[in-house]
Amino acid sequence: MKVRRATFGDLPDVVRIERASFAGKGCSVTTFLAHVLRDRKGLLVGEDDTGRVIGYALARVGLRWLGVRRGGVTSIAVDPQHRRRGIGRALMAAALEHLRSQGVAEADLEVSVANRAAQSLYEAFGFVQCQLLPHYYGPNADGIKMALNMRDATISGRAAGARGAQRSSSS
Ligand SMILES: CC(C)(COP(=O)(O)OP(=O)(O)OC[C@H]1O[C@@H](n2cnc3c(N)ncnc32)[C@H](O)[C@@H]1OP(=O)(O)O)[C@@H](O)C(=O)NCCC(=O)NCCS
Repeated sequence: MKVRRATFGDLPDVVRIERASFAGKGCSVTTFLAHVLRDRKGLLVGEDDTGRVIGYALARVGLRWLGVRRGGVTSIAVDPQHRRRGIGRALMAAALEHLRSQGVAEADLEVSVANRAAQSLYEAFGFVQCQLLPHYYGPNADGIKMALNMRDATISGRAAGARGAQRSSSS
């Protein structure tokens, strides 16, 4: 598989994967569109050898505050049929690389306390849990804020390399 920058034509596939992954509780197509219009390099897609889009990551470059540029990963998901093959790791690596290229020094994200798969993925890149977010995803559905000092980031996901995932030069 390879990771590349998304085009407008990828948005239907991104929304398909988002819906299959978050059961309608994730980002809307408008959110994705707004991100792509604001930052053409912030939405990344993973595609298989046939060119089919099988995952995406949405990176957000935020404002500079007290001399520190902040950012984060707003959403990441892999087609349920293609999970546990290193695609999420490759997408996360590309998203963090984008944030770093934009001067982001501190990144954060939110994840459900119940989502051990995603937490494990983020921890592999150096994210640490920093705040409990009660009812963040609804009643009795707590979230966790995780943060990463980009200096401490493990940018090149180890399993992505081990599994032969390729990075596209266009990403
Ligand atoms: C989280 C998600 C993106 C991971 O994508 P993936 O392609 O399956 O992940 P990878 O194969 O690259 O796995 C990378 C690491 O993530 C962790 N991981 C992924 N799936 C896991 C699972 N089911 N259980 C535990 N750890 C898991 C592991 O640390 C794994 O490394 P390992 O294979 O060396 O153990 C995917 O499960 C997904 O799309 N989930 C639904 C959407 C979602 O929850 N997004 C995050 C919202 S905050």
